[in-house]
Amino acid sequence: MNVAIIGSGGREHAIAYKIKESKQLDNLFIIPGNPGTKLLGKNVSLDVVNHQVIIEFCENNKIDLVVIGPEIPLVDGLADSLREKGINVFGPNKNAAEIEGDKAFSKELMEKYKIPTASFKVFEKNNFNEAIKYLNEISYPTVIKASGLAAGKGVAICETKNDAEEYINQCFNESLFGNSGETLVIEEFLQGEEASIFAITDGDNFVLLPAAQDHKRRFENDKGPNTGGMGAYAPAPLVTEEILNRISQKVIIPTLEAMKSEGRKYNGCLYAGLMIDDGEPSVVEFNCRFGDPETQVVLPIIEGDFLQLLSSVAKGEIDKTSITVTNKHAITVVAASEGYPGNYNKGMEISGIENAENENVMVFHAGTKNEDDVLKTNGGRVLNVTAISCTSLSNAKENAYEAMEKINFTGKVYRTDISNKAL
Ligand code: AMP
Ligand code: GLY
Repeated sequence: MNVAIIGSGGREHAIAYKIKESKQLDNLFIIPGNPGTKLLGKNVSLDVVNHQVIIEFCENNKIDLVVIGPEIPLVDGLADSLREKGINVFGPNKNAAEIEGDKAFSKELMEKYKIPTASFKVFEKNNFNEAIKYLNEISYPTVIKASGLAAGKGVAICETKNDAEEYINQCFNESLFGNSGETLVIEEFLQGEEASIFAITDGDNFVLLPAAQDHKRRFENDKGPNTGGMGAYAPAPLVTEEILNRISQKVIIPTLEAMKSEGRKYNGCLYAGLMIDDGEPSVVEFNCRFGDPETQVVLPIIEGDFLQLLSSVAKGEIDKTSITVTNKHAITVVAASEGYPGNYNKGMEISGIENAENENVMVFHAGTKNEDDVLKTNGGRVLNVTAISCTSLSNAKENAYEAMEKINFTGKVYRTDISNKAL
């Protein structure tokens, strides 16, 4: 099979690494990829906004499967454009990707189909006064979310009514997130522990991958600003077999049914961000794709033919036997540039990756670039140091942090407490 992966982050590097294991793979292309994916396939620099260019590339290179990594091209309808030309795609169509791209739609869907989630109300920009009035009726903290895509930055936890008023004002009157913030969801603050679940689905049937836990805040003990994710581990012991079963019954099955009933049949990875309180799951958000950095810990602990899984889904009939879950543990720690998620420097020389990697340690690239054959930093989240262990999570953690010490670049920062919650 000839496969093209769309994207350039740590998630896409991990997907490439897993697909590369398949005996069915002939040629692997990553559009545009990163210096890490270049070691696994051919990076191709194309503009994914231009669907026609991607279609022509697929036709010219006899691509059998396109795997779309990030949400932006999915919400932009790249999957639809490719499917219209008869190209197999792993990833939902635009109207199904709205489960992430339009939080107001997603919340209303959950309400209509009785899928557990925080109680909420939706307000449009022209309902500014109603939104402010509503702030008198609720308790605090409260959560306010930009309805559209905002690169994970559109959520504010407001401790007081004043904070909430200020945030609404910024979104509606100062265009904090542009169009994405012209509709806001105001929702109840949920207590509990978070977990991320990936359901791989053809729309009718699905398999669940092991539960992971992300670490969204920049600093230790979940302090500081939200980031794209500073690390993750899997499996998350918080999600017992019984809870996983409850997640299937109360969240995944009804959501897939709901999407079908709404004429938005879902094909791809449905990511449920959950809050687990007293064993009961509530949906914090749905994403229309694999999570980053969760993918970097989930894929290394499954075995079998991952390409077969994705390709069967793309063809409309999932092969649930194509993969199995191992007893391994995985952790990934993100090496970031000092200053992230605010301003940071780029272009710092990176060394030591080859010393860090071994049979149990992989380093997935994110914000890196090659300049005159020298590897340099090129983003906020630079590398994902991922370790697996057959024995325990604590062993995986030791391996990851030991490997992290071997990697050097000016301004390297990372969280030292990834997975502590589980240990
Ligand atoms: P989201 O982008 O919707 O996942 O929100 C980002 C983060 O904000 C989540 O991972 C949670 O940590 C937090 N969050 C979002 N919604 C809620 C909620 N209703 N209650 C508590 N925390 C929340
Ligand atoms: N790790 C959070 C996300 O992918 O949205």
